[in-house]
Amino acid sequence: MVSARRSARMTGLLALPAFAALLAVPPATAQERTIALVGGQLLDGYEANPIHHATVLIEGNRIVAVGPASEIEIPSDAEVIDTRGKTMMPGMVDAHVHIMILDGRRGTLSVPAEVPLLVEAEGPVRILRLNRPHRLNAVSLPMYEALEAELERIGADLETRVVILTGSGRGFCSGADLKAHRDHEASLAERHAYIDTSQRVYRALQTLPQPVVAAVNGHAIGAGCELALSCDFVIVAEEARLRMPEVALGTFIGGGTAYTLRRRVGHARAPELILLGRYFTPEEAGAWGLANQVLPADEALPAARELAARLARNAPISMRLAKRLLDRAESVDADEALRLEAEALLTCMASEDWREGLEAFARNRDPVYRGA
Ligand code: ACO
Repeated sequence: MVSARRSARMTGLLALPAFAALLAVPPATAQERTIALVGGQLLDGYEANPIHHATVLIEGNRIVAVGPASEIEIPSDAEVIDTRGKTMMPGMVDAHVHIMILDGRRGTLSVPAEVPLLVEAEGPVRILRLNRPHRLNAVSLPMYEALEAELERIGADLETRVVILTGSGRGFCSGADLKAHRDHEASLAERHAYIDTSQRVYRALQTLPQPVVAAVNGHAIGAGCELALSCDFVIVAEEARLRMPEVALGTFIGGGTAYTLRRRVGHARAPELILLGRYFTPEEAGAWGLANQVLPADEALPAARELAARLARNAPISMRLAKRLLDRAESVDADEALRLEAEALLTCMASEDWREGLEAFARNRDPVYRGA
């Protein structure tokens, strides 16, 4: 277990010279300090790839070299910061450390094979895979941060048309990491950071310009259930167990579900799920309108891919506006709804894609939309 004693800030971009260059850097030039980096966004090009072993060298606050190497012990007094320079909650750290350097000397580290979020690109589709399979993908601050950063990137990327959210291994997401919370009692500031980040993630899923498909390949509990319910489409594995057990654990729902669920499943059922915290089946989720499809676990992701491919063919501006209006559907009156639709219609009618849609229809071919 790594403990966070002091805080430090990382400055500047991380450089990634060849391993040979690392060996050429004399250890004496490096400042005495101990830094670990966590999260899935350590270095460009490394984002989607767990780094199992690495050697790093630090000068001042900067990592100046990274390369493959063998193992070392992580010292108990190591200072742990993430890639944004924030001190980590020690209890949250053990499974997230990717790289560590000791005291400015060249050091090596055995890196746990965990990156909290894996990102895969398949043409216009991004697959985001929650990746803490040893805990059935229980959420952690680094996972939320990685999700937030990735969703921000995707939101600004016109090439990405659809997002799929799924889990590694047999779970989708088992909610709050109960072991980490037990091991480390968070300070008030840490609690705020955790809650705020998680809520930004739920909202980012709901308001992302692109549609998001949840491929709920396995258990979705608590925060995991809320992540799925924040997506536009939900495909659930028959084997998945679904539950919001917060009240049974002495905690509370944080993703807005206590507020939205009554509207979504009805006055009688919402208390069953929120106050009783009972398990509900994928079939119930389907019948109540919380899930679009229920399939055997190994068919959930293929079905999500198929759905994503269909969604990706639609015009991006129309999709973005439609998603925005759906998000606001419960909070506007009929007059405002008409005004918003007229505004959306005018935007679409001024787009190149509208011309392309008309042209494709006239020529009896598939449209090719550019999102312009
Ligand atoms: N936090 C930390 N570790 C977890 C979590 C979690 N939320 N969920 C599962 N794990 C770990 C288990 O401890 C176990 O670890 P181990 O192999 O080292 O013993 C491993 O993941 C596999 O879990 P099992 O319990 O063995 O899997 P099983 O299929 O039998 O049960 C289930 C799955 C039902 C999801 C069960 O693990 C469970 O109830 N987990 C807790 C769910 C929960 O209450 N989450 C918090 C909700 S509140 C909120 O999110 C705010």
